This record gives sequence, C-alpha cells and structure tokens, in this order.
Amino acid sequence: MKNIVNKNVLKIKPYEPGKPIEEVERELGLKNVIKLASNENPLGSSLRALSAIKKKLGTLNRYPDGNCFYLKNKLAKKLGLKPQNLIFGNGSDELIDVVIKTFVGPDEEVLTSKVSFVEYEIVSRSNNRKFRDIPLKNFKYDLRAIKMAIGKNTKAIFIANPNNPTGTYVNKKELEDFLRGLPKNIIVVLDEAYNEFVDVKDFPKGLNYINKNVILLRTFSKTYGLAGLRIGYAIARPEFIECMNRVRQPFNVNLLAQAAALEAIDDIAFLGRTRKITLDGKKYLYRELDRLGFPYVSSVANFILIDLKQDCRIVFNKLLKEGVIVRPMGTYNLKNFIRVTIGTKKENTRFINSLRRIL
Ligand SMILES: Cc1ncc(COP(=O)(O)O)c(C=O)c1O
Repeated sequence: MKNIVNKNVLKIKPYEPGKPIEEVERELGLKNVIKLASNENPLGSSLRALSAIKKKLGTLNRYPDGNCFYLKNKLAKKLGLKPQNLIFGNGSDELIDVVIKTFVGPDEEVLTSKVSFVEYEIVSRSNNRKFRDIPLKNFKYDLRAIKMAIGKNTKAIFIANPNNPTGTYVNKKELEDFLRGLPKNIIVVLDEAYNEFVDVKDFPKGLNYINKNVILLRTFSKTYGLAGLRIGYAIARPEFIECMNRVRQPFNVNLLAQAAALEAIDDIAFLGRTRKITLDGKKYLYRELDRLGFPYVSSVANFILIDLKQDCRIVFNKLLKEGVIVRPMGTYNLKNFIRVTIGTKKENTRFINSLRRIL
C-alpha cells in the first residue's frame, strides 16, 4: 500500500460517524434504540419541507438547478445579502473541501485547533495540503496561540464557532482581537454549524466580518433537521464565491435538498420548537449531571461534552446495550469523555436513567 496510495491519505485517521440506529438494533437485537451521537435534530424535519420533497418526486429524472437560483435568492433576502454572497454545498462538509481547494495551494497550510471538527484535517490531508492544529485552552479555541502559530505558508484558519465536540465558543472580543492585524492573504473560515442554538450575548455575528477575509459556513443539517439530504452553504465576498463556484461540482446540491431547504427556511415555528427543546434539554441534563457528579463542559450548541471519570469506551458499550448511542471521545484523546446530543425530553431522561443504572 505504501507505494501505491498517496502518503497523505495513509496519514488520515478515518472519520468515525455516530453509529446508525439500524446497525445497533441489528447487531444487539434491540428495539427502540435512540441516537444521541451526531448532533441531529430530534424532532425530525419540518413538515413543510417534507411536503415540498413529495411534490418534487416526479421530477427526479432532471438534473437539479446547479445554481440553486430560488434558494439563493430567498436566503440572500432573508440575510440582507446579495445572491452573489452565497454558495451551496452537499452539506457544509463539501464546502470545507471547496474552500481548501480554492484558497490553499499545494505548499500552503491549514491551521486550526485540536479537538475540533475532524473534517478540517481529513480534507486538508486528502487534498495534499499541510495541516497543523494548536492545543485548546480550557476546552476553548486558543486564538492567541493560533495567531502566534501563523507561519509563512499558513493560508486558511478554520474556527468552529461553536466548536464541535466541546460546545465552547469564541466571543466577539476574542474574535475581533484575532482578526485585527492578520496577514492580508489569510482566509478565516468561521464554521457556524450550530449558531442557531447559541444562547449567550457575547457571541460574534459572523455576518459582520465577511467584508474582511472571512468565510462563514452554515448548514441545514442541525436546526433545520435535514442532515440526511446534505445541504449547507457558505457566505463570503462575491469575488471569493465566484472562485469557489469554479471548484465545486456542477450539480452538487440535489433537487430534493433544494426544495426542502426552500421551505425549511420559512418554517419559523419548527425552528422555534427545535431551539426550545434544545435549551430546555440542556438545563435538564446539566441538572441531572450535577446530581450524578459528572463534570461537563458548558455548551452553547446542541450537545454536551461529559467527563465520566472512567474509560469512555466501556461506558459507550454499556450504553449501547441499553439502546442509547452516544459518541465516545477517545479519538480526540479525551479518553474519559463522551459527547451527547441533546434529544427530546424522553430521550434525555432515558439517557440519564441508563447512565444512573450502569454507573
Ligand atoms: C462544526 C461542524 N461543521 C460542519 C459540519 C458538517 O455539517 P454538514 O452536515 O452540513 O456537512 C458539522 C457536522 O457535524 C460540524 O459539527
């Protein structure tokens, strides 16, 4: 393999997705398994989005609109932007790839934090770009250390805000201090996959920075409940978007995803319910974890990083047998931690009861 496969690909640790419900039910002979492992929306999807999908089923013989015309115009209006500020992708995952291909040359480097979204590393390495990550400080991105680490080849800096898997965030002041005086050729990517869950006042409004070299990434996978359809978007200066459009696949966003997103954007009631259930669930989980004596990292997203003070693999397997799928954090060198997505009230209660039983 050594001489056949690209050596950078051999360096990649494969992405470990949350275990699918069907797989656990099949392997363990269980029913009613719940998944709190991939930060998905526990309420399902907007009914308006689902009915829009049904209406489009008869047109699947056609290619989708490669320009996402209606979606782009609607979202631009909603955000107070020009359609030229937007590009859509097959999930924001695809746009991470597009950003790296568009802005980072073969000898240049992507910089980010350790214990952050693993796709930044996977995509950098598979595109033969250099990659470096800087340790967290108190479970937060250490923007000062990242700025100090900028080298002559550094070209793009990825900041997941809020960060996955810690749930922490960089605040407005920290971000502005970081952006001040950055070398002019560097792109800063603010990945805002979880921004709709944020409940703190000092969270920076990413849109205020796009006239600098900032690119925002957002997704329909979380609050909008459309993870299975794969659709996300980036917001940036039109000149940047124009170059990114050269790199993406011509029909990267499928027809059903476009139709669903077009409706989901307007389903304010669904978004409101999702936010409420998440914030209520977070309060409940904090209270119960305090009672059980398990420390956790304060989160502004729809998941919580929990310190179980014992090998997370063992707890993970025991929880699986209880029919509860969570995410073990061993691959991040957080051997005693799990990440739990905030679910419905029933799911959260089941997780806590299972935890109480097995520990
Ligand atoms: C920080 C972060 N960015 C991007 C993504 C990818 O989202 P999408 O489903 O839009 O590809 C995720 C998904 O978990 C994420 O946690």
